[in-house]
Amino acid sequence: MSKTKISYRCSECGASSPKWQGQCPGCEAWNTLQRTTNPTGGYSGEVQGRQLADVGEGALVRGSTGLAELDRVLGGGLVPGAVVLIGGDPGIGKSTLLLQASVESAGRRTLYVSGEESLEQIALRANRLGINPQGISVLSETRVEDIVGLAEAQCPACLVVDSVQTVYTESLPSAPGSVNQLRECTAQLVRLAKRSGIAVLLIGHVTKTGSIAGPRVLEHMVDAVLYFESEAGSRYRILRAVKNRFGAANELGVFVMTEAGMREVRNPSAIFLSQYPQPVAGSVITAVHQGSRPLLVEIQALTDRSGGAGSARRLAVGLDQNRLALLLAALHRHGGVATYDEDVFLNVVGGVKITETAADLAALLATVSSLQVEPVPATTLVFGEVGLAGEIRPVAWGEERIREAAKLGFRHAIAPRANVPRAPVDNFQCHGVDTLAEALAIARQLASQPVVA
Ligand SMILES: Nc1ncnc2c1ncn2[C@@H]1O[C@H](COP(=O)(O)OP(=O)(O)OP(=O)(O)O)[C@@H](O)[C@H]1O
Ligand SMILES: [Mg+2]
Repeated sequence: MSKTKISYRCSECGASSPKWQGQCPGCEAWNTLQRTTNPTGGYSGEVQGRQLADVGEGALVRGSTGLAELDRVLGGGLVPGAVVLIGGDPGIGKSTLLLQASVESAGRRTLYVSGEESLEQIALRANRLGINPQGISVLSETRVEDIVGLAEAQCPACLVVDSVQTVYTESLPSAPGSVNQLRECTAQLVRLAKRSGIAVLLIGHVTKTGSIAGPRVLEHMVDAVLYFESEAGSRYRILRAVKNRFGAANELGVFVMTEAGMREVRNPSAIFLSQYPQPVAGSVITAVHQGSRPLLVEIQALTDRSGGAGSARRLAVGLDQNRLALLLAALHRHGGVATYDEDVFLNVVGGVKITETAADLAALLATVSSLQVEPVPATTLVFGEVGLAGEIRPVAWGEERIREAAKLGFRHAIAPRANVPRAPVDNFQCHGVDTLAEALAIARQLASQPVVA
């Protein structure tokens, strides 16, 4: 005899629950759950799949946020019903960015909910930023049920919640900002987004100590996670997508913080290169490929005679420190340049964090350049992965990196041979190399050439 399993199904939305509840977990209607029975492990007959070919893209029409850099990081605009979490350090400009980002789609509006600031504070900021307040409604509220209720009543195109750490639900006894509250409130906002098509932008705080109130626990619940970062003291802000169900992860957007709010930086490659009148030793330009575009960044190296016995320091900011140690070993073995009695410091200008091996060769040439006080000409691009056998390995997006440099007036590249473009690039010479020793020789040769303007 087969056992029967009891479950409960909502008569309104069809959501099911293993136990009876007063409120439906799906549509939140009251007293709609009804008992159903079906044999354990059996097919209830109520779920149906669909042919993928018959499923259209539906309402996946992206709306612009009015900020092209933000649109790009989102994968081309804000998707209706998407839930996006934007994290960042205190005071970096999260509220500013999202107040500026008002969705302009078919006359529908933005609902900006703040649990951190009074309506007057928001108005003050909007005035300072010169934002047209038309179409933006504001609410100072922290109870998630009220926020969801108002959003459903108003049905804006976009709901901003500043911040997710301040909202709470009365159904849980724990304090706002605790993990349970964060999970439950976010779950309610996600359900709102999915059933109503309202795009939800959540602001989250990240704390230096990695406290539980950080948005990391929420990352799997939302569609996209963006981090807003900057180098200490810098006016530039980098918006980075670390997860995106609707676009490329690792995409970068660059803004500059001004009196009038976040201004987009159209040509980010130019700002990550420091402007020297003369080429300096220890500075090499490389191209990283972030998300959908190449970005030129400057790697600076400083070598200094090590003081201690046998414990030379290796410090890398913006690059992986372990990888630096490995690269220096390859440099010694295959390039004949020893650094065991030198402290080696590396820095990526502008606060960019490089996670790809394409910057290997540039890191080593910068180190050698500092060590031998021999500048690499400022118009030279360097990229390529360095293998432990001293070989220079090709990387993805080689041609895009070279074209970006050529666009900005670069004249030479030292690059993996397989990455040399087949068709010549105007006013640009690409030196393909197979080994580290070859790359060092080309760098020396370029350094000794008179600079042609
Ligand atoms: N009157 C002003 N003129 C120019 N810049 C200002 C002015 N007031 C604030 N700012 C800038 O705005 C920044 C704060 O921006 P914003 O409030 O958007 O940051 P936030 O990330 O939301 O911060 P929090 O984590 O505190 O909510 C400040 O660091 C400051 O640089
Ligand atoms: Mg804020």
